[in-house]
Amino acid sequence: MGKKTATAVNKNKEKRQARKLEQRRIADGMTHVTNANKLEELATLCKELLVYQSNNLEVDMYIQRVTELDKNVLQWAIDLTERNMKNLYETCAWGWNRDRKVEEMTEDSAWYLIAKEKDSLLAFSHFRFDLDFGDPVLYCYEVQVEADGRRRGLGQRMLRVLEKLAAATRMRSVRLTALTHNPSASAFFRACGYSLDDTSPPKEEANHYEILSKSTCLTDTDLDKNPELDGA
Ligand SMILES: CC(C)(COP(=O)(O)OP(=O)(O)OC[C@H]1O[C@@H](n2cnc3c(N)ncnc32)[C@H](O)[C@@H]1OP(=O)(O)O)[C@@H](O)C(=O)NCCC(=O)NCCS
Repeated sequence: MGKKTATAVNKNKEKRQARKLEQRRIADGMTHVTNANKLEELATLCKELLVYQSNNLEVDMYIQRVTELDKNVLQWAIDLTERNMKNLYETCAWGWNRDRKVEEMTEDSAWYLIAKEKDSLLAFSHFRFDLDFGDPVLYCYEVQVEADGRRRGLGQRMLRVLEKLAAATRMRSVRLTALTHNPSASAFFRACGYSLDDTSPPKEEANHYEILSKSTCLTDTDLDKNPELDGA
């Protein structure tokens, strides 16, 4: 066995450093996710966005963990998802399975943003703070608006709430999965500034869904110190 050249030694050193940096990135991301999930009052991070008065709507929003959500509200959210999405799921490789959807929507890590006008439930988003492909993200599982509440800017306002929460809790982006044969959702997410995420599968692998995201534009330095979370 010959002696290692200086170039080979440097290359190994670089690889070790890169590995260490990646491990540190993932560990930091996990810390942000854990901290976000521990927060008691997420609403304080975005309270100025939780009242929406526009286009003849007077909407109040609140945020709760699924474990704190009123059972009737959860039931309404499940029913609305079925009404809005069943046909779309049935016409793609996923198919519709209510039990599987209920299981997903009731996992302990689920958070809910609920929008209501007086006593009338109008829209919701199910979201989670999660480590996805090593990135700390706010993953938007659902955004669902009742038919008579649509095209009045409410969906867009709800995404803004999620984006504010993502930035305040040091997530890298708001990420979501969208069905490619749901053109209104596709137009909506793009109008709100979402684009194809690097983690989206190539079309040959899966063409019925895509992963979209919007960055919180936090740099690594921002991720180390973000006054909004420190002040929460
Ligand atoms: C998709 C959805 C969430 C949009 O919510 P919304 O409150 O109606 O959307 P907004 O009023 O905030 O729309 C913001 C912009 O998005 C675009 N947009 C929204 N709906 C659109 C549609 N059906 N067709 C084309 N563009 C649309 C428009 O640019 C709109 O601005 P404009 O009304 O000034 O033109 C709502 O239609 C919905 O719940 N659909 C059924 C469920 C669903 O598909 N959910 C998404 C997948 S989880």
